[in-house]
Amino acid sequence: MQASVVVLPGDGIGPEVTAAAEQVLRAVASRFGHTFTITSHPIGGAALRGGGLPLPNETREACLAADAVLLGAVGDPAFDSSPSEQRPETALLQLRQALGVFANLRPAKVWPGLENGGAFKPELVTGADLLIVRELTGGIYYGEPRGTAGDGESAFNTMRYSRAEVERIAEVAFKSAVTRRGLVTSVDKANVLETSRLWREVVTEVGTRYPDVRLQHQYVDSCALLLATNPLQFDVVLSGNLFGDILSDEAGAVVGSLGLLPSASVGGRGGLFEPVHGSAPTIAGKDIANPIGAIASVAMLLRHALGAGPEAEAVDQAIGGALAAGYRTADLVSSGSGEAVGGSMMAREILTRVQVSG
Ligand code: IPM
Ligand code: MN
Repeated sequence: MQASVVVLPGDGIGPEVTAAAEQVLRAVASRFGHTFTITSHPIGGAALRGGGLPLPNETREACLAADAVLLGAVGDPAFDSSPSEQRPETALLQLRQALGVFANLRPAKVWPGLENGGAFKPELVTGADLLIVRELTGGIYYGEPRGTAGDGESAFNTMRYSRAEVERIAEVAFKSAVTRRGLVTSVDKANVLETSRLWREVVTEVGTRYPDVRLQHQYVDSCALLLATNPLQFDVVLSGNLFGDILSDEAGAVVGSLGLLPSASVGGRGGLFEPVHGSAPTIAGKDIANPIGAIASVAMLLRHALGAGPEAEAVDQAIGGALAAGYRTADLVSSGSGEAVGGSMMAREILTRVQVSG
């Protein structure tokens, strides 16, 4: 197979975790006899620091031409007080829109052996395995009008969803549920928001086309509570852009660390693959960051953008193998339960397991 992959390291821990992920991608190519053309481009704060736009045109064009895009993270405190068009995050929002990747898949599963490392009681999280299907190119992230008024005395955003936008993301959720445990939990705030009442109506309609999938509706506040107290009850969690952003960080806590979570943004051109964690500037460059979120995103890239199932499986197995052998980055070590390894050691342990031909 021939494929072109664009890597966007970005900010903070982005460069170190994408470097590890890229090595894994190269190892997959050589083990399975593929040719992957991999090029790297600036985005976010890294692009701004170089004097460009957060999403330089050249980066956008490269992404549009690629079979898949692997992104590290964007976000840099140096630009915290900059206007929207000069913020690292804007690059990511523009890129998602340019690629048209409206469906963000965020699987969250407790790896065997990691039940004890997180903030939640092991008996509550053991066996948790959910998929957040987050709408990614609409809602309050993109709604117009937005801005500030009265010399900064007030500010406003617009949450807007069309039937068509809700319908297509609901389709993705139901289709996913068919291949999983057949349950969709749709998240909204229909007791307060008009967008949520439309959301609920359209999701219910789509649900009638999937008689084998059970649909339940959950207000986002109660969903947040249930995710913390009884995560096993969830299979596919369907949500709008903002609610999905919030719940997916919480899912990170459920599985032991946000550093473990990968994501795939699909439905448009190619696909955009990125760990769910952010740029984590305070730990950047210290070899602390967990590369698993980025490496698991490579597995999703192989599966969703390149249709390479066995290759994806090999990557997931290598991650499982390194964890089963006891390697833990700092975020996975609970107090008094052993030594943490650096991110580069974790990456090496995974890489060598990918290289071993199966
Ligand atoms: C995420 C991130 C982004 C988002 C930011 C960096 C724009 O938090 O992918 O979850 O809010 O979508
Ligand atoms: Mn987020």
